[in-house]
Formats: sequence, structure tokens, C-alpha cells
Amino acid sequence: MVKNIKDVKPAIISDEEAIANTSPFRQKFHVEPRSGVLNDPNGFVYFDGQYHLCYQWTPLAFHKDPKIWQHGWYHLVSKDLVHWQEIGPAIESDTKYDQYGTYSGSALSVNDQLFIIYTGNTWVDTDTDQWHRVPYQLGAFMDHENHFTKFDHPLLTDSPKGYTGHFRDPKIWQHGSDYYAVLGAQRQDQTGTVVVVHSKDLHHWTTLGEMQPAERNFGHMWECPDYFEVDDQGVLLFSPQGIPAHDGLYENIYQTGCFVGDKMDYHNLIFNHGHFQELDAGFDFYATQTMAAPDGRRILSAWFGISEIAYPTEKYHYAGCLVLPRELSIQDGQLVQKPIRELAALRKEQTKFDFFVSENPVLLAANRTQEIDAEIDMSTSSRFEMDIRANADNDKNTKLVFDKNEQLVSLSRADAGIPFAAKYGSERYRKLMIKDKIRMQIFVDNSSVEIFINGGIIVFSARIFPDNDQDNLFVTSRGGKTKLTASIWKI
Ligand code: FRU
Repeated sequence: MVKNIKDVKPAIISDEEAIANTSPFRQKFHVEPRSGVLNDPNGFVYFDGQYHLCYQWTPLAFHKDPKIWQHGWYHLVSKDLVHWQEIGPAIESDTKYDQYGTYSGSALSVNDQLFIIYTGNTWVDTDTDQWHRVPYQLGAFMDHENHFTKFDHPLLTDSPKGYTGHFRDPKIWQHGSDYYAVLGAQRQDQTGTVVVVHSKDLHHWTTLGEMQPAERNFGHMWECPDYFEVDDQGVLLFSPQGIPAHDGLYENIYQTGCFVGDKMDYHNLIFNHGHFQELDAGFDFYATQTMAAPDGRRILSAWFGISEIAYPTEKYHYAGCLVLPRELSIQDGQLVQKPIRELAALRKEQTKFDFFVSENPVLLAANRTQEIDAEIDMSTSSRFEMDIRANADNDKNTKLVFDKNEQLVSLSRADAGIPFAAKYGSERYRKLMIKDKIRMQIFVDNSSVEIFINGGIIVFSARIFPDNDQDNLFVTSRGGKTKLTASIWKI
């Protein structure tokens, strides 16, 4: 088994990249892998005058030889969170503590160095029916030349008593002069939770326990937890697995969402919070990670995908990308996500619209990649439809609908292009009070749409894989006319 990307013949990697490059679905302004699988964002941090972002990377996931397998972190840097420069492979699965995966983790700038904490995955007793995971929490430093040096010894060995081998994804932060991290965990009774660990020097860590009051029976495993404070409140963001769908919520195979509450009490880990808020109303969103920008903004990245879903790009030997970075804030107890303002740097030629839309579909634009910033006034209509990435006949499209009678907004990708994940449904909806004006900001890339409604109170993210002739944007109004004021920028 190949452990380090350096041991893979360069020709193998370049062949995989050449196959990926034949894909019609390569993204224009989203981070995606040159080949293989991208999943969680890791080590998202501002350090040394720039943003750093790594992702979980299995470069040869679709290579024909199953013996060639390698799983590590891939590293990028950016000055503006929009334009990324690839640094290359970062941490590799090349020690006995991480030989079956350098799993997710996070980074913190400490005394002019970047400290990394991540999970090393190992399997033991693999030749018996007692085989199981043994996780290690591992440390590394990154220097100013982007070199990572792993610690010799694990920071924490195995799961604490009472938990299974599913104990991973440390997210670190500093509080006063102390360091804390939250980890996703599974209790022995197969319920998911989050565990807090603590250190005074980054080298010696102890387990403090679960945040209290401990949530019971909320899924069987929580992945990628993140605790932070924004707008004077505490937020615990995580990806729980095993939450049943109901009332249009939790329709995806796995969820991502948060609890918002009072700030955590560090003496007893008490975190009083409200109900679980599913973060994205769309289809492909998982494993979030946030960071504090130098100007104080809390910025989120996430995997624009979910495990166990077969994406059509796999045919071209790659899968996965990251969502556009989102700025987080809290409004009336709800976590709100806005696309970061830096994304305006992508805007090219602008077209403006200001008219009443009627029952006859109007072609607004024929751009493959674009940003749409629109306000609609539905005070004299009952339904407004926007067909994104539509063909000329508008029978293939990604359909966004505002329905005043139902007081719903919905997104359908049933006719968006190559079907996939249909087992989990092709339409998502959210309740929305529709009286008059609604604002929306939409980013359309070669194989995705991200829709931010009313300043990020509702967000839909969807991967789509349209045909080559699906470049049109139509709008239609029913039950009266809808006033539309919009700017569209080519990207
Ligand atoms: C979430 C996850 C994490 C794990 C990583 C491995 O997608 O399963 O819990 O660290 O992916 O790639």
C-alpha cells in the first residue's frame, strides 16, 4: 500500500489528472481536486498574512489499481478567499498513527507557528472478526515555508472510556491562555455526541468530557464539530449522522447544522442552546469548518458533497469541491450565512433588469457561470419561477420557485441534468413568509448553484450536471405579475 504521494509514480498522477481534465463539469471558481476525491475542509486559518485551507484528499481514489491508495491533506493559500494558489500535498498517511487516513483536523496560529491537530485513523485486529478502529489525535507544526512537521507522539491515544473508535475531527481554539478542542464522538450505546479536550501547552492534552446538558439520541455519530462565538452567542456546528427526515428537513443522507445558545461555561462545559438548525436547505453540504478572519468575521467552508453519494464526475476520476466561503452571523437566534463580500472580485460584464415579469417566460441571460443579485416583489402575484441552467425549450433546468399560496420556496434538480442521488429526492423546500419583497443572491458555476435568500436566512446548495446546451436563465410569474429588479454578472 502506498503511504506517501511521493512514492506514487508521477505518470500515474498525471494520467489521472488528464482524465479529470476531460470532464465538462470542471468548476470555474470553486476549489476542487485535480484528481481523486475531495471531502472535508481542514486547517482553515489565517496565518502569515494569508488564508490557508486544506482538504481531505484521496488523489487516486478512482485509479484502476486498488493497491495504490493514499489519503492526506491537500494545501491551498489565498489572499482573498476567492483566488486560491495550490501549494500541494500537505500531511500524508505515512506513520503508524495515521496509516489508514490523516483524517480531519484544524489549525491555530500560535507564537508565529501554525499548530495542526488532526485525527490519525488506524485499524487493528484486521485479520480477526474483532477488527476495529483505533483513533489517535495527532499534532504537527507548519513553518513559514509551508512545511509540516509531525510530532513524534500522539496527543491522545484511542477513544476515552465509554466511546467507540469513532472519535475524531478535533477543532481547536484558544480561550485565554488555554487551548481547547471539540471532537466528534460516538458513545458505546451508539449515540453521537461532542467531547471537549484541553491543553495548556499544545503537547499535553486531557479529556474534559461532553458539553452539558448532553444531547441524547440525536443520531449515531457526530462528525466535524466546531465551537465558536459570534454576535455574543455560542454556536456548536456539527454533522450528525442518523437523523430521520421529517417535514422537509434532514432529507439528505447525512446532516449538517448547529445549536445556537449562550456562550459555553468553561468551568462545567454547560452550553444552554436552542433547537437544531439545519444549515443548508439544499442537497450537497457537509463537514463544515469555520475560521476567524483578521477583521473578526467568522467564515465558513464546507464540503459541497456528502459521503456515500456517487457524483457523475467520478467517471472522470474526481469528485467533490468546496462551497463558496460564507460569513456567519446570528439574527433572532438563527445562524445566517452570507456569501463573503470578496466574491465581488469575480464579477465581469454586468446586465441590469427592472421590469414586471408575466406568464410568458423571459430569457434573462445565457451565461454558463454567473452571479445573480435579484429582488422580486410578489405583492401582485402568487408564484415566481426562476429556471437556472435551462435548455432553449426550458424542459431541462434547475427550478427555483417562490409560492405565495403555500408560503414556500423550493428548489428542484429533477430535470437539471445527469440524475444522481435521486433516492434522497430531487426537490427541497423551506417555509418562507412571502408577502412582497424577496432578495436573492445566486452563484452559478459549471456544475453547481448556491442560492442565498433574504440575506442568507435560507440557503440552497446543489451540485448539478447539465448538458452542454443548458445555459439559459428564464423567469416566469403566475397569478399576476412579479416586479423584478436584478443585476447579473458574468463570471
Ligand atoms: C467526514 C469524515 C470525517 C473524517 C473524514 C475522513 O466527512 O468522515 O469524520 O475525519 O471524513 O476523510
